[in-house]
Amino acid sequence: MGIRKNGKLLWKLPSDLKFFKEITCTSAPTKKNVVIMGRKTWDSIPLQYQLLSGCLIVVLTRSPTCNVVTSENIITCGSIPSTLELLASSPYSSEIDKVFVIGGGQILREVMNGPGCEAIHMTEIDANIDCDTFISRVDLSLFRPWCSSLPVTENDISYRFVPNVRVCSSSDSNKLKLENFAFLPKIIFDKHEEFMYDVSSPKY
Ligand SMILES: NC(=O)c1ccc[n+]([C@@H]2O[C@H](COP(=O)([O-])OP(=O)(O)OC[C@H]3O[C@@H](n4cnc5c(N)ncnc54)[C@H](OP(=O)(O)O)[C@@H]3O)[C@@H](O)[C@H]2O)c1
Repeated sequence: MGIRKNGKLLWKLPSDLKFFKEITCTSAPTKKNVVIMGRKTWDSIPLQYQLLSGCLIVVLTRSPTCNVVTSENIITCGSIPSTLELLASSPYSSEIDKVFVIGGGQILREVMNGPGCEAIHMTEIDANIDCDTFISRVDLSLFRPWCSSLPVTENDISYRFVPNVRVCSSSDSNKLKLENFAFLPKIIFDKHEEFMYDVSSPKY
């Protein structure tokens, strides 16, 4: 579950980056998505990419004097609950489509598998790489892999995309119908037909 070492990504996977952008930036017409991240992740993003996202960016910090330059599309918040409260209020509530929490380790360890988390979009890298920043494992008593891409190889590293969806109750077959996962980004349905898991199977 490693995501980084010494402040650097140890893999360069252009298709993964492209997929990440497509998932997070594609929103319903006239709406925008929200991308929530920890202050250290924000600091790690080069300035030219900070400005181009098109999403509403929320940078989480406990410091009232942090150096994040805010604007109409870049705001800071002091906690996850206060962020969600803000997004549920006017004017944000009517403008927002999906909310993504993109990292880093501290933030994802707090929210992954939590009650507000409906899906976990994981890129699984098939390599043994030393890391110093980690996220939680997907709790398989709460989530199931929805599908998987076929393995992609770039720069000698094999990886695949695996969206995991919350399955509230594996005994309630109504909850496993396709339409109940309509909240998933459309790209998941467009691009990830290679290997559909049967989410009702007890194997997963
Ligand atoms: N491989 C990947 O997919 C991936 C994805 C994202 C990030 N990353 C990498 O992960 C690294 C950063 O991860 P990290 O774990 O060190 O830091 P992080 O989670 O990005 O940010 C930690 C900071 O967020 C703030 N924070 C944390 N919990 C908070 C809470 N509950 N409420 C309000 N603010 C909170 C604090 O900021 P203050 O100190 O300002 O109070 C804290 O120092 C970066 O190198 C980034 O590039 C990798």
